[in-house]
Order: sequence, then structure tokens, then C-alpha cells
Amino acid sequence: MSKRILGGLGLLLGAGLSTGNVLAVEPGDPERGQAAAATCVACHQADGSGMNVPDGESWPRLAGLNAGYIEKQLHDFQAGRRQNASMMPFANMLNDQQIVDVAAYFSQLEITSAGGGEDASEALLTRGEQLANRGDWDNYIVSCKSCHGPGGKGVGSDFPGIASQHGAYISTQLHAWKDDERANDPQNLMGSIAKRMSDDDIEAVSAWYASQTVSAEGEE
Ligand code: HEC
Ligand code: HEC
Repeated sequence: MSKRILGGLGLLLGAGLSTGNVLAVEPGDPERGQAAAATCVACHQADGSGMNVPDGESWPRLAGLNAGYIEKQLHDFQAGRRQNASMMPFANMLNDQQIVDVAAYFSQLEITSAGGGEDASEALLTRGEQLANRGDWDNYIVSCKSCHGPGGKGVGSDFPGIASQHGAYISTQLHAWKDDERANDPQNLMGSIAKRMSDDDIEAVSAWYASQTVSAEGEE
């Protein structure tokens, strides 16, 4: 009820303040979002858990990701700032209202566990933990924690949660930054970090974050 009223106020304010012909977007509604997400579940799964595919294309977990981060990624796919042949047609199907709605929907789903850390050796996980929490100053690698927060739970809409994300997906993204195939954050922060990482480092940090579980109240 109060959400409806707020939504209505948003519409009025939006209509009053907008100078262009941009349609006002109401705050995200998880129920509408679930309906708009009907096509997404083929890959991202009904519980938003996605899937770890070690030698293929992994589908990222969307459950429990920050809503603002999800919105940004969908706009980036639409604008071609982030490229992926499987994902782009689905981003293009959504209007601005559906983007905030699906973001509201997936962000309130419970964070699921991730694949990709199960078979990692103790040594690999130790290296992963070092990169995540302390970085590697000899190689000018800042700790992941300094942006992605303690435990990799994410900080606001700019720094996504990466703990309990699929290892093969994390590693694909780091390689994409390293090879200049993903560069959709304003200062290409991730690009400069990934370029300093060896393939072994990428494997290690991906396995470590994949094996971290996040409690329900943990992520923003
Ligand atoms: C055919 C499979 C497929 C379908 C269907 C699909 N996606 Fe995706 N999605 C992907 C893949 C693959 C990626 C990872 C792309 C990459 O590697 O850059 C992705 C990435 C994303 C991301 C970025 C996540 C992150 O952590 O950065 C979001 C958000 C997303 N999808 C939302 C959606 C929504 C919403 C729908 C439905 C409207 C949808 N997807 C449908 C395959 C799919
Ligand atoms: C200086 C800040 C900063 C540091 C340090 C940093 N990141 Fe990031 N990271 C970002 C930003 C910003 C984004 C979001 C990019 C975007 O908007 O698409 C991001 C996104 C990511 C993503 C994509 C998540 C998804 O769902 O698609 C992964 C994976 C990731 N970082 C891994 C790491 C790892 C591993 C480390 C440590 C080796 C690290 N990051 C260190 C700023 C940082």
C-alpha cells in the first residue's frame, strides 16, 4: 500500500521535474519483476542461483545482488558498453520500468551457494584468500576487500558482492577485463587490477570467493 503511494508520488514528481520526454519510472516492484523475469530463469534459474560451467559459459548468480548494480549492468548490455551474445538480446527485451522491477525481484532473493571452489587445493585457496583480503603489494594488486567489502559481500550499488558467486564466472570476468573485453565501469578499475594478475592468481581468487558462503542478512 505505502509502496503504491510512494510510487504514485514518484510519478508525479518525475512528471513535474522532467524536462525532456523521458517517462518516469516507478520504484522497482518485485512482483512485477518476477513476471518480467520469466525468460531469465532459463539461464539464471528460478531461485536466481545461475550455474557454474567450468569449460563453457557460466550464468552468474543474480539472487541477492544489489538492485542498483543489476540495473546498471542491464543498461550497460543495452547500450553495448558490456558485451555478451547470450545476454544482450534478453537485456534488450526490457524497458526501463522492467529493468528496475527485475532488479528489485532478484535482489530480494536469498543468496545461494556457488560452484567452483569444491576441488580447489589448500594452497590455491590460501593464495586466493591473500589476494582477496590483503592484496599483493609486490605486484601492485590492491586487496579485493578494499572495494568489494569485508568478506566480498559488496558495498552499495557500485561494488557488487562477489562472495558465493560462481568461480568460473568470476574467472571469466577477470579474464575479460585483462583482455579488454569488459570495460564498463567508469574508471576501468577492474581492468587495471586484472591486468596485474597471473592466470594462477585469477584461478585462486575465483575459487576462494566461490567457496565463501554469505549469510542471509550479510549482503546489502
Ligand atoms: C541464454 C541465457 C541467458 C538468459 C535467458 C538471460 N541471461 Fe543474464 N546473463 C547470461 C550470461 C551468460 C551472463 C554473463 C555475461 C558475461 O559474461 O558478461 C549474464 C549476465 C547477467 C547480468 C549481470 C550479472 C552480474 O553479476 O554482473 C544480469 C544483471 C543479467 N544477466 C540479468 C538477466 C535478466 C534480467 C534476464 C531476463 C530478462 C536474463 N539475464 C536472461 C545469460 C542469460
Ligand atoms: C578499486 C576498486 C576495486 C578493487 C580493488 C576490486 N574491484 Fe572488482 N569491481 C570493482 C567495480 C567498480 C566493479 C563493478 C564494475 C561494473 O560496474 O561493471 C567490480 C566488479 C567485479 C566483478 C564482477 C562481478 C559481477 O557480478 O559481474 C568481479 C568478479 C570482481 N570485481 C572481482 C574482483 C577481484 C577478484 C578483486 C581483487 C583481486 C577485485 N574485484 C578488486 C572495483 C574493484
